[in-house]
Amino acid sequence: MSNSNKTSKTTNQNSTNSSWGGRFSESTDAFVADFTASIQFDQRLYKHDIAGSKAHSQMLNKVGLLTDQEVKDIHTGLDEIQSEIEAGDFEWSIALEDIHMNIEARLTDKIGITGKKLHTGRSRNDQVATDIRLWLREQIDLIASELQRLQKGLLEVAEREADTILPGFTHLQVAQPITFGHHMLAWYEMLVRDFERLQDCRKRVNILPLGAAALAGTTYPIDRPYVAELLGFDRASNNSLDSVSDRDFAIEFISAASLIMMHLSRFSEELVLWTSAQFNFIDLPDRFCTGSSIMPQKKNPDVPELVRGKTGRVYGSLMSLLTLMKSQPLAYNKDNQEDKEPLFDTVDTLLGSLRAYADMMPHIQTNKDKMRAAAMQGFSTATDLADYLVGKDMPFRDAHEVVGSAVAFGVKTGKDLSEMTLEELQTFSDVIGDDVFDVLTLEGSVAARDHLGGTAPAQVRARIKEAKQNGA
Ligand code: ARG
Repeated sequence: MSNSNKTSKTTNQNSTNSSWGGRFSESTDAFVADFTASIQFDQRLYKHDIAGSKAHSQMLNKVGLLTDQEVKDIHTGLDEIQSEIEAGDFEWSIALEDIHMNIEARLTDKIGITGKKLHTGRSRNDQVATDIRLWLREQIDLIASELQRLQKGLLEVAEREADTILPGFTHLQVAQPITFGHHMLAWYEMLVRDFERLQDCRKRVNILPLGAAALAGTTYPIDRPYVAELLGFDRASNNSLDSVSDRDFAIEFISAASLIMMHLSRFSEELVLWTSAQFNFIDLPDRFCTGSSIMPQKKNPDVPELVRGKTGRVYGSLMSLLTLMKSQPLAYNKDNQEDKEPLFDTVDTLLGSLRAYADMMPHIQTNKDKMRAAAMQGFSTATDLADYLVGKDMPFRDAHEVVGSAVAFGVKTGKDLSEMTLEELQTFSDVIGDDVFDVLTLEGSVAARDHLGGTAPAQVRARIKEAKQNGA
């Protein structure tokens, strides 16, 4: 787990938690205390926990449950705690279980009895749900901006390489010539949808659970819309049981993250293939690759390989959370404490992968001659010849057969269609004229696919222009 703060001090005093120990007659088993605690990982939520507590106390003041002075003391205390945590001076306690009780106990140390009033009208159940939503909302915004940075890089490469020709593949066999710009834009479009999914998911994350208390709401005259407003939530949730128990928003986020990683893994696979000696279509800057300790000649595409591999972690987290929620009775169950690590790991993995890709993207260099040579192999303009024959009034099925014979001849003689003489081509059909060479060139082939969504350089440029205007 990576921590945003540099604290590592954690103590495990074998004692009963003072927040709930009243009905217990012996202290918690030391191992059980450690096993059931979440402070080891949920300390990461400290900033959001403090923000939630500040808003809650402000609301308690508004409805007359805390005096102005009490709120002031609470806010000052919480600010000091935040500084202590950020300075690495905060002592985390396992006995205090989690981030909520660690902070609350420290607040009470600092400001005395007023600290104990902060928990009026709330429970850790709605508190933790609030913290995670606040944290995830922030992370979604970070992820979205990394995603946009990658999109920008893709547009840059697409623009630079709008005319670069490479073979397009189906079944990983050479199919038809395409432009590299068009290929980059295919990835761009996937990320457009990924971005939309994140924004859509954010709407359902951005709802305030606080006020649900343990499960049924509270007897105090709380003002939930006010808290929602203070914390920048779109609104307060409608049902207290649902609010404290469901984690569907986190599952939805990890689903969106899984799709992004799936896209990055496809992307990675192509980069790995393209940097291989067999393809040699592109070069990645040395700083995104590593060497081999035994084979001096090696330059390995580590970043794409690792991103491809990391996709599995995110899928794993999705399965963890789906399984975590499955069959849980209402309302909160301790099971839900297990939501955090997969969620944190997903965010770390996704942010890291996007960052590496966004940094690398604008620096991809193409080997245009290699791409071109590959497009010349495999009869990539065969469909163009068939379309040409259709233009001369031949039914498509017949044209398909004629081109098939020409390709068989090419295989035997080692010639591409564009390398055959007119006489040779005419042996397959006498409708073939001199103008056939316009369509058999790679440039002619890509330029002819000049419609919305086609590979023609003109279409690539049009889409780039539109994307830059719309920001997507
Ligand atoms: N650490 C807990 C979690 O992450 C906070 C909520 C605990 N609630 C409780 N009733 N034990 O879910």
